[in-house]
Amino acid sequence: MNSFSSLPLTPDYDSWPIEADIVSVDHDARGVTLGWSDGRKSRYHGIWLRENAADESTVNPATRERILDLSRLPGWPEIAAAEIDDAGALCVAFAAEDRHLRFHPGWLRAHDYDNAGDPEAPLVPVRLWHGGPGADPDSLEASGLLDTEPAGDAEEAILAPALESVLGKGLVRLHGLPTEPGSLEAIARRIGPVRPTNFGLLFDVKAKPDPDSNAYTSIALPPHTDLPTREYHPGLQMLHCLENSVAGGEAVMLDGFAVAEALRQRAPAAFATLTRVHWCYANTARITDYVWYSPMIRLDARGELLEVRIADFLRGPLQAPFEEVEPAYEALMTLQAMLREPHFAIRFTYAPGDLVIFDNRRLLHARDAFEGSSGHRWLQGCYMERDEIRSRYRMIQRARRQRSHCHR
Ligand SMILES: [Fe+2]
Repeated sequence: MNSFSSLPLTPDYDSWPIEADIVSVDHDARGVTLGWSDGRKSRYHGIWLRENAADESTVNPATRERILDLSRLPGWPEIAAAEIDDAGALCVAFAAEDRHLRFHPGWLRAHDYDNAGDPEAPLVPVRLWHGGPGADPDSLEASGLLDTEPAGDAEEAILAPALESVLGKGLVRLHGLPTEPGSLEAIARRIGPVRPTNFGLLFDVKAKPDPDSNAYTSIALPPHTDLPTREYHPGLQMLHCLENSVAGGEAVMLDGFAVAEALRQRAPAAFATLTRVHWCYANTARITDYVWYSPMIRLDARGELLEVRIADFLRGPLQAPFEEVEPAYEALMTLQAMLREPHFAIRFTYAPGDLVIFDNRRLLHARDAFEGSSGHRWLQGCYMERDEIRSRYRMIQRARRQRSHCHR
């Protein structure tokens, strides 16, 4: 095989530091076993290597998206030879195509499906939290965010800890942001695109005449997630305080995952019921008709909490099998009673320029009644998906790797 002085491209745009060198290569027709300088062994199938090559027969170099259709190969990609080249890359000869392909050792090591941990593990470990007296959300100074260069170091210094709090705890509060109406859109775009809804790209939370939601009144709101009436209810919500001079109207936030875990411990049957019975979520607006059916608590394939969908004022009539109805209501009332336990809740007052970002499929937010005539309370809000915050956080991690990575 040819010798190369530099490492090959990877099938992505990321940066993969060399944690260890490849010191041995064994192969048979179906796969390769690499030995690393730190003693670790990694095994890769030929078929897996073939489709993860980064050459022009496999990925479009302009996009790094795959163009290879495995079913069009002349045969199973059996391995004729495998060795390490001068640059430390793995070189594999695929017999059926008579093609030699090179693989970046940092990328191979990072994507070792045999030894790696859970690739679907959360980017930031999930930390459940309780509130109670004196508890506050993670709070960060963010003045000047809009003056920073997008995707620059200064922006990253503000966003990285903020995103970490949202990913880990589902909540962060930023201080010192502008109070111009509409500035939320520019702030949100520093993370990702906003999800518009029938309430607009940005929505105004203030008491207004002829309201189309209880949010737009001054009455108290029980703990809830927003838009449970959608098949995919928004993963993130941002609430930006422009004015607040009213008496009352304290914000209340609860970690819905902490409440659900407590329910799982205290009343496992009720928990199981709420993960099984499909409730109806329906808005009762005059000009829209959003309806969705879902369990109140949803778990992922590993049994970890995926989302809670709770909004009593948006629940439609339960349409469940006869024998499920009473247990469903019993479980609901057990949960509702827990939502009133004060130790779950963080309570705080919005100051103008504050922005609260929270996971709308995890946190419950509520509001005390406020005196509409005692001053002004004006929040602007918007929605976004969890994907946006994960992508933005991965890009920050990538930028950090690229800065600290000595290319070889
Ligand atoms: Fe809400």
